[in-house]
Amino acid sequence: MNVDGKNIRPIWFNEEKEMVQVIDQRQLPHKFVIEDLTDLKKTIYAIQDMFVRGAPLIGATGAWGVYVIIKNLKEKSENNEILINDCEELKNSRPTAVNLTWAVEKVLKAILKKETFIERLETAKQEAIIITEFEANNCSLIGDFGVELIDEISKKKNAETVNILTHCNAGWLACVEWGTATAPMYKAFDKGIDIHVWVDETRPLNQGARLTAWELSKHGIKNSVITDNAGGHLMQHGLVDIVIVGTDRTTYTGDVANKIGTYLKALAAKDNNIPFYVALPSSTFDWEKRDGIKEIPIELRDPDEIKYVTGKHDGKIKSVLITPEDSNAGNYAFDVTPARLVTGFITERGICNANEDAVLKLFPEHKY
Ligand code: MRU
Repeated sequence: MNVDGKNIRPIWFNEEKEMVQVIDQRQLPHKFVIEDLTDLKKTIYAIQDMFVRGAPLIGATGAWGVYVIIKNLKEKSENNEILINDCEELKNSRPTAVNLTWAVEKVLKAILKKETFIERLETAKQEAIIITEFEANNCSLIGDFGVELIDEISKKKNAETVNILTHCNAGWLACVEWGTATAPMYKAFDKGIDIHVWVDETRPLNQGARLTAWELSKHGIKNSVITDNAGGHLMQHGLVDIVIVGTDRTTYTGDVANKIGTYLKALAAKDNNIPFYVALPSSTFDWEKRDGIKEIPIELRDPDEIKYVTGKHDGKIKSVLITPEDSNAGNYAFDVTPARLVTGFITERGICNANEDAVLKLFPEHKY
């Protein structure tokens, strides 16, 4: 997407250096730093420490990660046991986003049909390109379907500003291009619809305040960062027309795992009769799990992410302690919003209700 006149993605293959490169999102919006993914260790660290993040991007990184594995194993990549073990390690680098397993397995399956190192390396590269473009294209389609919802509200409001609330960052930084939740916003803005976005700051790592606000502002979209607890109040006062969020994993029955705090937004939206939509590509559906609350693994992260806040002060990036030194912290990274609270899914194949029948009607190839 467009950053100061340059077209940029959060991951790409540098043909000249023959290297996978990513934006280090931990440093945004204060610094724009590019990192090379040189080996498996670095790729896993980039996923775990969140240089790259967001379900579709984690998937694309996983796909490129298989290329990185093969490149480093060289002729040893013809040894399937080592290759499969490395891919297993890569798949386990973060637990909640289902795209990671999906992408790694897809690339690995294609590679195992090839025999030589050269064939395997080339296949991994081609498969990673296919997955990256698949995610970019799906996000664009999500935007095309989602913009209709915003257009409808705008017409009902006689072209007055449409206020959209979003949580975390389900923007192009999380998804290669367009984003999932943000795609309808970008397409609405590009169509000339007057929109304003309430951006939940998204504690503890502030993906909303740091990344979504940055992305939207770079595109010229009006936005205001709010505290994570402000949404309910805004909804009670008629200041939110629609909620659109992304997801890290959604069961085919309609339960949605997304950044911690999403569930509370869905409850508040239900109580105030505000449509609550989840935007996702097919790669984020879990086609095996039925009960999101019981079955989706929820990542528990380092308590220090809660105890310390990082920001810019006097031109330098600083981290400060905000709790008593010896306080415990429980860093649950995601929660599950039950299907009954979700108005609908915006996917690359259209918009559907959040239930098994509707989802499988759009994606019949996943019916057993
Ligand atoms: O922990 P993160 O930053 O990888 O969390 C992922 C997210 O950004 C969100 O949960 C997002 O809304 C869904 S991914 C498009």
